[in-house]
Amino acid sequence: MKIVKGYRLYVELNASQVRRRLKGHGLGVRKVETAGSHRAVIIHTATGQHLRQLEALFRGVIEQNAETKNSEVRQEMTNPQGSATDDVAFESEPGVLRVFQTKEATRAYYNKIAKVYDLLSEEAEKPMREAGIKKLAARPGERILEVGFGTGHCLVEIARAVGPSGKVLGIDISDQMLAHAQALLTKEGMADRAELTCGDAEQLPFESNGLDGIFFSFTLELFDTPELPKVLSECKRALRPGGRIVVVAVSREGKHGVMLNLYEWTHKHFPNLMDCRPIYVRRALEASGFTIKEADVESMWVPVEIVLAEKP
Ligand SMILES: C[S@@+](CC[C@H](N)C(=O)[O-])C[C@H]1O[C@@H](n2cnc3c(N)ncnc32)[C@H](O)[C@@H]1O
Repeated sequence: MKIVKGYRLYVELNASQVRRRLKGHGLGVRKVETAGSHRAVIIHTATGQHLRQLEALFRGVIEQNAETKNSEVRQEMTNPQGSATDDVAFESEPGVLRVFQTKEATRAYYNKIAKVYDLLSEEAEKPMREAGIKKLAARPGERILEVGFGTGHCLVEIARAVGPSGKVLGIDISDQMLAHAQALLTKEGMADRAELTCGDAEQLPFESNGLDGIFFSFTLELFDTPELPKVLSECKRALRPGGRIVVVAVSREGKHGVMLNLYEWTHKHFPNLMDCRPIYVRRALEASGFTIKEADVESMWVPVEIVLAEKP
């Protein structure tokens, strides 16, 4: 039997009704299968604009998701044994919502809020970031990368820890965030220990095996599900063997309280307002071949995973 890979969208229509509705639309649909007496599953690889069009075509008939009690797309892989990196991420991120923003929209959003970002996030997120920095435990002389450094507070902390013989590198998609971070590094007298790049971290402009550590705080959850293994495999490539990665991110681990459901609902219905969504950090790192050293689930107003892992 040929196994078709892709996301599964369950709809309350039969397979021939689905095919009729799909007529003339490609939208990454790989196969339509019967999944019950009046129910079908659309196996697709649609992302971004195509995913939104696909959902719009089936609005009102997407099957109720038993887990979240929201009417939303059920996302699973059809081939959990698959070995491609995309398969690993889908398998390790069950029930995780997709990201609907384009990279351009993400860049524009962070450019717009760069000036007020600290006011919006500082109080709640600061203790989480600091716990992550503590786990990273950067040492003098090390080369450490921060992905999605925002206004640059962690860059300053890392620059202090690596000292004059070390280096803190940073990549962020927003040029306005970069300008803020650069100004902060200069103000704190750390600019000569830092090198910042503006770009998409899906591809890291760093040579292989050259980094001692990589740090993410509230950034990994901005990457769409199929991108997670790509970003993490780039991190693995850029780290030296034994190099460590620390990820702080809003998580689906632990208790699914009202606030987590509200967070996901907001992400789904108002993606411009809530661009990130809870993910599974430890599972994603494990699936990408990292060895987990420490994994905590802390509580902000939603669960936050703070995970330290190592490149074998
Ligand atoms: C929620 S903020 C977190 C900032 C900072 N790490 C903190 O904890 O305060 C996410 C940051 O990731 C950046 N970002 C988003 N998508 C990115 C991408 N694909 N590549 C690199 N940076 C990205 C944004 O510009 C923003 O600065």
